[in-house]
Amino acid sequence: MRENEFLNRLTSIAVQLSAERDVEKLLHIILESCIEITNSDAGSIYTVENDELHFEYTLNHSVDFPFSKYAMPLDRQSISGNCALNKTAYNISSMKKVEKLFNIKHNESFDKSVDYRTINMLVVPMMDYYGEVIGVMQLINKKEEGSDITISGKTTVKLPSYTELDEQITSSLASQAAILIARSRLYNDLSNLLDSIISTLSAALELRDPVTAGHSRKVADYAVKLARAVNDDDVIYKDVRFSENQLKELEIASLLHDIGKIGISESILQKQNRLSDEKLNEIEARLYLMGEIIKNGSYSTYKIGFSENVPAFVERIRRISDSNLLEYEDAGFLNELKNESPIRYNGRELYFLNDEEYESLSIESGNLTKEERDLINMHAKYSEEILERIDWGKRLHSVPKIASRHHERLNGMGYPYGLDMTQLSIRERILAIADIFDALTAVIRPYKEAVSKDKAYKILDYEVRIGTLDRNLVDLFKTLE
Ligand SMILES: [Fe+2]
Ligand SMILES: [Fe+2]
Repeated sequence: MRENEFLNRLTSIAVQLSAERDVEKLLHIILESCIEITNSDAGSIYTVENDELHFEYTLNHSVDFPFSKYAMPLDRQSISGNCALNKTAYNISSMKKVEKLFNIKHNESFDKSVDYRTINMLVVPMMDYYGEVIGVMQLINKKEEGSDITISGKTTVKLPSYTELDEQITSSLASQAAILIARSRLYNDLSNLLDSIISTLSAALELRDPVTAGHSRKVADYAVKLARAVNDDDVIYKDVRFSENQLKELEIASLLHDIGKIGISESILQKQNRLSDEKLNEIEARLYLMGEIIKNGSYSTYKIGFSENVPAFVERIRRISDSNLLEYEDAGFLNELKNESPIRYNGRELYFLNDEEYESLSIESGNLTKEERDLINMHAKYSEEILERIDWGKRLHSVPKIASRHHERLNGMGYPYGLDMTQLSIRERILAIADIFDALTAVIRPYKEAVSKDKAYKILDYEVRIGTLDRNLVDLFKTLE
């Protein structure tokens, strides 16, 4: 190789190496490049892991043989083991010298099994920034430049020895590769650490609120799928292309969107009926007592009617407490009870229903009072506050913002900030759709049936009509499987 050509080749290897994150591909690039630069016939690469040498990759221009990965102990019983432990490169001009160099015999069994002969070898350690050996590269059988000789077990030809320049260049490339491999491993470790912290946080939330088990993961899956569909769309979203990084931000924001529920009391979060069993038992005992008192006194027709039918009144209150929607007649029934004057007993006034009980029972839909609903709605803001405490770095800095906006609506009627369409990004709109869809279709409780997919789509369409969700995104979402 001419000097110019050689420098160009070195530069291109350096560029190729630094552009690669995949450890396996890095190993391939470094071995192939070093074989080429040194005119070697063959080479192998080992990595050092847990006191073992792992045979990762091999290349041989003369013979073809099936390659399989294996591990051997990291000790002084092999040439590579010596190279790694001594952190030294060895230029072995003849395999006969191995015994003297390392006090071991060169193991010829591998060569024999594939009809090959190792005549000389250059073996270099791959060291990272801390001087830790992360691997060993063996270059085998240097050939004359331009030679196309094929080497077999019977080859007796004399080969040129590896030069000092070969040693310097391969050592320097091996170290560059080692540094990049260490960087990739560090990056992978950090990314795994982040993923495990995120799944721990979302598992912690689901332990507190088992009713929504699996919700975060499903919302994340729906959201990322819809964002990818936006990427694939060449009409409406032809100018929108989310990077893998932006998709990752959306995924994390989706996984943690409800994390603020950690700050909401369990009694509200897990509330299943309008009134707790405890409260219902208390009402039942009071109504039976009132029934007895009324029977023994002189009271209005309504009260007398009540005293003759206490079990039916109690039963109806229990039924209203369990229901999800307040019927018109039940609203009237509750009003009558609430407005009925109290009766006196032992110096106290006994009401059929006190203000708090009435308020809980007369909720129009769902089972939360306005006050409880306001408290639950705080979770989106809490999500933001919790997530803002994490240093997401430049790559993931939008996570808190996207997560906290999943209840914002395009018409400004959402919470916590009442933002409108001019303020909500595509990813924020996507998360809102994914969240609603899963809330509708998930089997939330064993006794509450999930809404079918088609019905959920109709509800999303309705939300589009009243101006809360994005029409184009909902339409695209409905085309996904
Ligand atoms: Fe939420
Ligand atoms: Fe949610």
